[in-house]
Amino acid sequence: MTAKDPISKKTIACTMFCLIAAIAIVAHGQTAAGTKGPGEHQWWKNAVIYEIYPRSFEDTNGDGVGDLNGITKQLDYLKELGVDAIWLTPCYPSPQVDFGYDISDYENIDPQYGTMADFDRLVAEAGKRHIRVIMDMVMNHTSDQHAWFLQSRSSRSNPYRDWYVWHDGKGETSTDKGAPPTNWQSEFGHSSWQWDEKTRQYYYHKFYIQQPDLNWDNPAVHRAFKDIMDFWLKRGVAGFRFDAIGSLFEDPGLADEGVVKDKNGNPLIDAYGEQVLDGSKTFLVAKMHPVIQEMRAEADTFNANAFPGERVLIAEMYSSNIADLANTYGPPGKPEFQLPMDTQVGFIDKLDVAAFRAKLTDAETGLGSHVPLLLFDNHDNPRIDMRYGDGAHDTDIQRVVATVLFASRGAALFYYGDEIGMKTTPPARKEDVKDPIGIAGWPKEKGRDGERTPMQWSAAEHADFTTGAPWLPVPLSAASINVKAEEGNPDSLLTWYTALIRLKKSNRALKDGADIMLDTENTKVLSWMRQAAGAPAVVISVNFTAQPQTVNLANDAPGAGTHKLKTLLKTPGAADPSSLDQIQLGPFGVYVGEVQ
Ligand code: NOJ
Repeated sequence: MTAKDPISKKTIACTMFCLIAAIAIVAHGQTAAGTKGPGEHQWWKNAVIYEIYPRSFEDTNGDGVGDLNGITKQLDYLKELGVDAIWLTPCYPSPQVDFGYDISDYENIDPQYGTMADFDRLVAEAGKRHIRVIMDMVMNHTSDQHAWFLQSRSSRSNPYRDWYVWHDGKGETSTDKGAPPTNWQSEFGHSSWQWDEKTRQYYYHKFYIQQPDLNWDNPAVHRAFKDIMDFWLKRGVAGFRFDAIGSLFEDPGLADEGVVKDKNGNPLIDAYGEQVLDGSKTFLVAKMHPVIQEMRAEADTFNANAFPGERVLIAEMYSSNIADLANTYGPPGKPEFQLPMDTQVGFIDKLDVAAFRAKLTDAETGLGSHVPLLLFDNHDNPRIDMRYGDGAHDTDIQRVVATVLFASRGAALFYYGDEIGMKTTPPARKEDVKDPIGIAGWPKEKGRDGERTPMQWSAAEHADFTTGAPWLPVPLSAASINVKAEEGNPDSLLTWYTALIRLKKSNRALKDGADIMLDTENTKVLSWMRQAAGAPAVVISVNFTAQPQTVNLANDAPGAGTHKLKTLLKTPGAADPSSLDQIQLGPFGVYVGEVQ
């Protein structure tokens, strides 16, 4: 069977039969997170990870910007939600050109977000609640205000010169700077080469001009980042999410990149009016692997008292196929990331049953024994409502998405506010835009402010995010979409998330059982089964359409129509199906049931 082969119905029928026949249900006690019970060092295997954009989560000092104390304040909320770990986007000192992804000091906390003591308190308080803290690790570039870059740009002979990527211009003379060394483009628009008058060379920046790329051919850079990792590991962090990791290296031969053409052979043009390039000389993933092996070895060994593999390395990855994603786990004996992001499932951006079935099958069969990390959302993309919603059934669609996320095998990552259904709210006017790409690309590219608006805690003023003026406006939708309104409401999205996460943690099959696609010709309903040895199988059906649907999963099992179901979770108001052969689903309805 290849990665893409659908699992045959015969296999399903047989395995399901064996499963139902085996009634030995072993009650496995859950090991409390944060302790070191058997297997606990691989806590990330079934983890639920919550991404926090600290700027927008909770402000405790009234300056309109979220802070670490705000996160600490909300730890009980996160515990109740059931998260195992929080990933904080960068909160290190930064000029905030890219809202923290331009770091000027990797071993401190930006005063806007608090102090090192606040950070230590956050880690300690989170630990008490068995919540781990994961930091962002930005190794591709620093801020242009980082001491290393200030040194580097001070003279060609400075010892830090070679920490960054400097080149002469094309056709450069003593009086003419020449053209940029290559045609390479920044991710954020225009040439990725910036002329530096003082030392008369260009430096390379994959992102903003204020984010010069580090030179990963320099061993001193490797050592510096291992020290930075150790600094945070010693303070008790559980791991790192590696930013833009595929961009560490560029072609030393400085070859131009190819231009991407549309189907008529015309160059594609981006939001900034530039030709889209193929990335072939600036996205050299093959060269990244040894660096990650080195970083993983550091994380595994820095503390003899920790289990190797306990500290988790997560990758920001947008792999285009499962084989590429599989490679980022590392070859045998040389581990790399435990959890590279599988963006192939969550960023299909269309409720297309066949596409989901194919990508989930890839994740199940194409990663060997590795664990997929699924996600649907982050701080760089419009929220789920804008990519999957239809405007009329958004809450039901959010239930569908959450079910695919939490009821599939693997670790699950979600973004603050997803659990209450926060909506993408882009700025209406260019003068209100905060994200520089939204200013440069307006109106085609409105930037990422829309997915970074303050967390909606209540319907009170500024959604109870701040007592001051929020750095981004609170969406009007906060009047009804907020934690206070949804807590305690059995039909709310927040209740759905909480229930799904509990099931993922407590139900043996949903915890780590294999994913097996069912009813594989159906184009309207996605159905699958979770199967773990010694536990009853669980079936999941999600209706991807606005029309009611009925599915018959008994076709995939022996003795059609005889299998009883015990409902674990269903769309509020839906009826309980009595057996596998007639599961009725309302518009975007969801059913999760155990086969008895
Ligand atoms: C990816 C991050 O998620 C994004 O927010 C940032 O702008 C770029 N990397 C550059 O660090």
